Amino acid sequence: MKKLGLNHVAIAVKDLPSALAFYEGQLGLRCDHRERVEDQAVDAAIFGTGQGRIELICPFTPDSGVAKFLEKRGEGLHHICIDVPDLEQALAELKAGGLPLIDEKPRVGAGGSRIAFVHPKGGHGVLIELRQAD
Ligand code: CO
Repeated sequence: MKKLGLNHVAIAVKDLPSALAFYEGQLGLRCDHRERVEDQAVDAAIFGTGQGRIELICPFTPDSGVAKFLEKRGEGLHHICIDVPDLEQALAELKAGGLPLIDEKPRVGAGGSRIAFVHPKGGHGVLIELRQAD
């Protein structure tokens, strides 16, 4: 599988305004985009516009996957996202290699991009998001 590199890292936070105060106010980063991602039940604040973005994700319902993550593990790195040239092919190759996939078929992520998640068990402890490259 040919990889195109890191698209973003996503950090789960409990309180978006307070996390923004740190990332913008203290680290001096600029939030370029805010978005509600219905599929994952999170509000996202995105720093940067190209590859290598940072996304703060904050659940807007108490029963979402990210809310459960925060309850269990607290704030911190939630996933990393890798751009791939052909998402279906990447999923097929990983499945053939025996990796546990959360999504066998692409779904819609932030910005309308096509994405799929690989289980942390297959990602050496880190949830991996694969994203169809632009
Ligand atoms: Co993501």
